[in-house]
Amino acid sequence: MDVIHESGFQLEGKAAELYEMQKVPSMFAPLADATINYINILENDIILDAACGTGILARKLRRKLGSDYKIVGADLNKNMIQVAQSLNNNVADSCEWHVADIYDLPFNSETFSLVFCQQGIQYFPDKNRALLEVYRVLKKGGRIVLTVWCKNSIFMRSVSRRLSDSISEEVGSKALAPFSYNGELLEPILSKIGFCDFSVKRLTVNRIISSTKDSIADELMSLPIAESIRDKGKKILRSLVDGILEDMEGYVSGKNIVTPQDTLLIQARVRNKV
Ligand SMILES: C[S@@+](CC[C@H](N)C(=O)[O-])C[C@H]1O[C@@H](n2cnc3c(N)ncnc32)[C@H](O)[C@@H]1O
Repeated sequence: MDVIHESGFQLEGKAAELYEMQKVPSMFAPLADATINYINILENDIILDAACGTGILARKLRRKLGSDYKIVGADLNKNMIQVAQSLNNNVADSCEWHVADIYDLPFNSETFSLVFCQQGIQYFPDKNRALLEVYRVLKKGGRIVLTVWCKNSIFMRSVSRRLSDSISEEVGSKALAPFSYNGELLEPILSKIGFCDFSVKRLTVNRIISSTKDSIADELMSLPIAESIRDKGKKILRSLVDGILEDMEGYVSGKNIVTPQDTLLIQARVRNKV
């Protein structure tokens, strides 16, 4: 029988490492692959991965494009950047990493021709300001590519419901917040700033999580609401894990839980700048 291991209850902050260990393979790496396969990267593109987290998209771009491209990752969270650096210290493979706020990027105007932002926009309270700053660092004709999860995450709906039942409605709905922003609302903002050729594509990626209790516990403890679970103690964590595993019975495939998860992929291009 699985025993929930100590890291599942990791009560002190190793959130960035846990994010890389758990969330990246289960959802952000497959999404980065799907995004990179979909986007046409041009020969001279200079690329920024904005709100890069532990840098999965930038690292995959480097692997695909080779060493000739300039690829930069920037994130507000210094622990995320430290993990990105630690995974990417081989010179041939390296990207440039910056701890930086999306509202105040440390780059000259018109530095980049392609800015990716994978599952970052829903975390920026002032979307207009964030996108204005991206516009500033983009060259004439430069492109922005954003992804934002759709509302139909099967796994997260179970997590949210179980959290609502055992902790509070507020915690349950907070867990769903990254999956509830309707990215299509971005069109008027982007258009007013000076972007054109707005398009939205729906991509589906599988969220793949090992079906052990340890793994479900790690998923929960790498969520932004982990603190609320931690406050309630291990008994609540165990019952959340059991409840989620029960909800996911129909999605078990071999040793994994596999749930399809949709994302919007939004693209726009900078209109001519004067
Ligand atoms: C869900 S994670 C996505 C990370 C990464 N793009 C990936 O695919 O793994 C959201 C990221 O947004 C970052 N973030 C939130 N607010 C930010 C801000 N104001 N400026 C820059 N990054 C921010 C967080 O630190 C976090 O790494």
